[in-house]
Amino acid sequence: MITVHTVEALRRAVSEARAGGARVGFVPTMGNLHSGHVALVTRAKTRADFIVASIFVNPLQFGPNEDLASYPRTLAADQDKLAAAGCDLLFAPNVDEMYPNGQAMQTRVSVPGVSEGLCGGSRPGHFDGVATVVTKLFNMVQPDVAVFGQKDFQQLAVIRTLVRDLNLPIEIIGEPTVRAEDGLALSSRNGYLDADQRARAPHLHRALKALGEAIEAGRTDHAELIEQALAELREAGLRPDYLEIRDALTLGPARADSTELVLVAAAFLGTTRLIDNLIVRPPSHA
Ligand code: PAF
Repeated sequence: MITVHTVEALRRAVSEARAGGARVGFVPTMGNLHSGHVALVTRAKTRADFIVASIFVNPLQFGPNEDLASYPRTLAADQDKLAAAGCDLLFAPNVDEMYPNGQAMQTRVSVPGVSEGLCGGSRPGHFDGVATVVTKLFNMVQPDVAVFGQKDFQQLAVIRTLVRDLNLPIEIIGEPTVRAEDGLALSSRNGYLDADQRARAPHLHRALKALGEAIEAGRTDHAELIEQALAELREAGLRPDYLEIRDALTLGPARADSTELVLVAAAFLGTTRLIDNLIVRPPSHA
């Protein structure tokens, strides 16, 4: 695997691969890679011949009081993991390479509707930052296919929408969440948790699972079920940010005729914010 730091070197390497007839797959990341990221590369390799990954901690998607400064930067370890996973090219630009005219003057991409509420409600501007950097990365790499984790369910919906609305010829694949044995969704932010918080963290998945089982058993009293799940989280020492039941296809409100629902939640343990989701089929559509 080779690592490049400039758009020019990236374009040269991708053009060479394309000239050899390769289909290009892309896995954008912010680094500090874990098995969830490796699964994205593995999936990309089933759909493309030449795999590009990017590592860029994108300042545009962090709020003023968020963890931009402390976000773990572990390039050497990440390079080893990507190479072992069979990635061909790593693009690791710095902030000036991505935003040469400064962040304030950067043209923004905004995706109305799906960006609103949930994480978009709690993190104003976050999805504009994600949509902007992903659009730029797509234009730099020009992949045939790109793979994103389903753990960031709303992010995936934002990206699918921008690809559709901007007519980008890129196939978007959502890869299922990789979990620790106790159910906790793998995330670079799990590294912030101390031992006690790490022991409590799987309650987020457990609460969603219990909620999902109730829905699959035919319960339709969503408001009451959500209250129960929130109480479970609080009892386990988590501070819920949101917990909602949405239509999995539109991310809009759950409807009586929704064929698939997504249970989406975010909760704090100390200052660490964890997110998770679960797809369920109501019994009428099972
Ligand atoms: O999911 C992430 O790691 C980031 O939001 C992404 C998609 C790489 C954009 O910075």
